[in-house]
Amino acid sequence: MTNEYKYKFASLILAAGKGARLRSALPKVMHQVAGVPMIGHVMMTLGALKPEKTVLVIAPHMDSVRETALAYDQTCAIAVQDKQQGTGHAVQCAETAMKDYAGPVLILYGDTPLITPQTLIKVLSAIESSDIVILGMRLADPTGYGRLITDSSGQIEEIIECRDATPEQKKTTLCNSGVMAVKGKHLFSLLKTLRPNNAAGEYYLTDIVSEADSHNLHCHVVEAEAIELAGINTRAQLADAEKIMQQRLRASAMEQGATLIDPTSTFFSMDTKLGQDVVVHPHVVFGPGVTVADNVEIRSFSHIEGAQIERKAIIGPYARLRPGSVIGEGAHVGNFVELKKTKLGKGAKANHLSYVGDADVGAGANIGAGTITCNYDGTNKFNTVIGEYAFIGSNTSLVAPVTVGDGAIVGAGSVITEDVEADALAIARAPQVNKTAKAKAIKQRQKKA
Ligand code: UD1
Ligand code: MG
Repeated sequence: MTNEYKYKFASLILAAGKGARLRSALPKVMHQVAGVPMIGHVMMTLGALKPEKTVLVIAPHMDSVRETALAYDQTCAIAVQDKQQGTGHAVQCAETAMKDYAGPVLILYGDTPLITPQTLIKVLSAIESSDIVILGMRLADPTGYGRLITDSSGQIEEIIECRDATPEQKKTTLCNSGVMAVKGKHLFSLLKTLRPNNAAGEYYLTDIVSEADSHNLHCHVVEAEAIELAGINTRAQLADAEKIMQQRLRASAMEQGATLIDPTSTFFSMDTKLGQDVVVHPHVVFGPGVTVADNVEIRSFSHIEGAQIERKAIIGPYARLRPGSVIGEGAHVGNFVELKKTKLGKGAKANHLSYVGDADVGAGANIGAGTITCNYDGTNKFNTVIGEYAFIGSNTSLVAPVTVGDGAIVGAGSVITEDVEADALAIARAPQVNKTAKAKAIKQRQKKA
C-alpha cells in the first residue's frame, strides 16, 4: 500500500515488557501469528502508513526483536529501556531517538498484532484537531484494562488503571486500547510530570492525560472494534489472535477468487498468495513463502511451505512441499510425497510415496512410487537431475550426485549410482533366479522338521 494518506507522523512502539504471562524463553513480541512475529505485524501495519520516523523500545538482550523490526524497516531507531519501570518510562527512553519531533507521535504496543491501518488512520486524522487522542474500545468485561473517564463533552479527564480504580470507576466499559497519538511538542514535557504513585509503583504513560487536562489541552477518544485491539498477554490470547487472523486471511483468499471447501480447516501464513480458481480441500496448511498460480488444486492433508506452484498443478492428498520447491504447470505431486528444494517440470508426476530432494526433474518425467533421492551422505547434500520424459521405475534409489538423461528409463527397484545417458534403459538390481520346484522341496523339508 502506498501512503495515500496525507498524515505526517512519527511512531513509537513499546516492546520492552517481559511478557511474563506467556511463560516463554522468547520475548513476547516474537511469538507468531499466522507465521509472522507480533512485532512484524505492527511493523507491517505501520509500514502501510509510512511514518516519517519509527522508534522501537526494547529491553536489553532483545536482539531478535531488534533484528526482526529492522528487517521490516531498516530506518527504525532502537531505544533500550534498561529496567522496565512502566509504559511512561518506556516512552521517556525514546526521547533521544525522537530528536524533538514536533508532529504527532503515534504510540503503539508491540503485542497488538491485529490492529489495522484503517484504525490508525482514524487516530491520525483526529490528532490534527486535538493534543492527545486515545484509541478506546468498549468491552463487556473490561477487567485488566485502563478505564477512560470522560466529561460530558467527550474530553478525557483521566485514565485510571484497573488496579487503581474505585468500584464506581470499574463500572466504566470504555477502555484504553493502549494506542494513542500525542502532539510531539507536548509529549516529553508531560512525561516529566509522571510519578510512580500507583499500585504498581510504575511510571504510567496513561497519567499524561490528567496532566494534559489540567493544562487545558484537548484530549479525545476515538473508538474502534475491540476485536482488533486485543493485547496478547497469554497463550490463550495468542491462540485467539491466530483464530481472528486466520479468519481474515481466509476471507481475503475467497474474495480474491479461491475456493476453500472448508475455510475453518485451511491455515494460511500472512504472505500466502493464491491465484484465481484455486481449490483448497479441507485440512491444508500453508507455511511461509507459498505462491500458488491459477487453477491449482490442493487436496486434503497437504503441508506446503516455501514453494511456488504453477498453473493447473495438482497437489496431494497428503503431499509435503518444503522450501525451494517449484511445481511446474500441470504437474502432479501425490500421496505421501515429500519434495525439498526440487523443481518439478511442466506436467511431471510424482504420484506416490516418494522423497525427492535437491533435484531438478524435467518436463513430463514420471517418478515411480517409492522413489528416493539419496541426497545426503551424512555431511553434504548432492543434486539429482532427471531429464525430460524420463521414467523412473518404482522403488528406485537415486544416489546423488547423479543424472538420468532425457527419455531414459530406470527399471524398478534399481539403485542408481552412475549417470544414465539419454534414452538408455538402466537396471541396477540383482538379476532374478527362478529355481524349478525348489519351493516345494523347502516346504516338505520344513514339515518334516
Ligand atoms: C496498558 C495500559 C492500559 C491499557 C492496556 C491495553 C498503561 C499504564 N496501561 O496496561 O491502560 O488498557 O495497556 O492493553 O499504559 N512496556 C515497556 N516497558 C515497560 C512496561 C511496558 O516497553 O516498562 C511495553 C510492553 O512491552 C507492552 C506495553 O508496553 O508492549 C504495555 O505494557 P503492559 O504491561 O502490557 O501494560 P498493561 O498493564 O496491559
Ligand atoms: Mg498488556
